[in-house]
Amino acid sequence: MIKKIILDCDPGHDDAVAIMLAAASSEIEILGITCVGGNSGLNNTVNNALKVCTLIERTDLKIFSGSNKPIHYDLFTAEYVHGKTGLDKKGDPIIVNPDYNVQEQSAIDFIIETCKSTSDQIYLCPTGPLTNIALSLQKDPSIKNNIKEIVFMGGAAMCLGNTTPSAEFNIYVDPHAANIVLDSGIPLTMMGLDVTHQVNVNKMIINSMNENNNKSSKFFGELMEFYTIFHKKLYETEDTPLHDPCVIAYLLEPNIFKGKLVNVIVEENSKLTRGETIVDWLGVTKRKPNCMVMSHADDKKFFELLKNKLSCLP
Ligand code: BDR
Ligand code: CA
Repeated sequence: MIKKIILDCDPGHDDAVAIMLAAASSEIEILGITCVGGNSGLNNTVNNALKVCTLIERTDLKIFSGSNKPIHYDLFTAEYVHGKTGLDKKGDPIIVNPDYNVQEQSAIDFIIETCKSTSDQIYLCPTGPLTNIALSLQKDPSIKNNIKEIVFMGGAAMCLGNTTPSAEFNIYVDPHAANIVLDSGIPLTMMGLDVTHQVNVNKMIINSMNENNNKSSKFFGELMEFYTIFHKKLYETEDTPLHDPCVIAYLLEPNIFKGKLVNVIVEENSKLTRGETIVDWLGVTKRKPNCMVMSHADDKKFFELLKNKLSCLP
């Protein structure tokens, strides 16, 4: 059965790859792409989503603008990773199709309306801070009944954070939103740094994608050339984690990943550990399990899937 999804993102280089992977997959129907402030300010993330869909010739995909800031904190952005525009890259600039515009309806109202009006249950796929999802759940808690699963990129269960020693970026930016989602009772799957750091891009992967010989795979390479600069320096390796497409890969081929259903709660306020995902892997707290936390990824299968899907795009 085709999985109906709302992709909630903050593009972002790896978000862009998540959009491409979803758009290339006939097993998935994208009901809409909702944007949130995260890697860059909201105007940039919306514009970047428009750019990606223009490039892959999918201007039929509707793009919605959501929250420009987290629920309580000021927005913290990651220009140091994604550049000034949030999607800096070498090569020709992408000119958005002039007839292709962001929708008037807000992302929050779109999420609510879609959940309520679609007869099938929907997968929510957040690859940025969880603000839009949390605000939708707050505004209309009844939408829970129509959400099959929320598969999100965020958190770090048994490894270091990437924004502070204890926190991963998406959860760090809006920890309050993360707790609203974690408390929702909706089936949740967390694709945290534990798995995304097992799915690494390097020169070999970029070359292999280029064998597809289409403009979307070339675009992938251009994006990755920029995106890998920061990571190579930080991690002192040639490998760069490709976080966000893990969410879509999981929907397409769940057995690429392995994990465990455990309790997860987020530290909201501590100066030192804001945004830490407290993952009770051993069940020592006896708190009720609320989230499937992925811990293992098969990178060979992941990149086979990605290459195959990108070859289906223009
Ligand atoms: C997450 O933060 C962002 O920079 C990426 O797009 C990804 O969603 C990784 O920590
Ligand atoms: Ca992201």
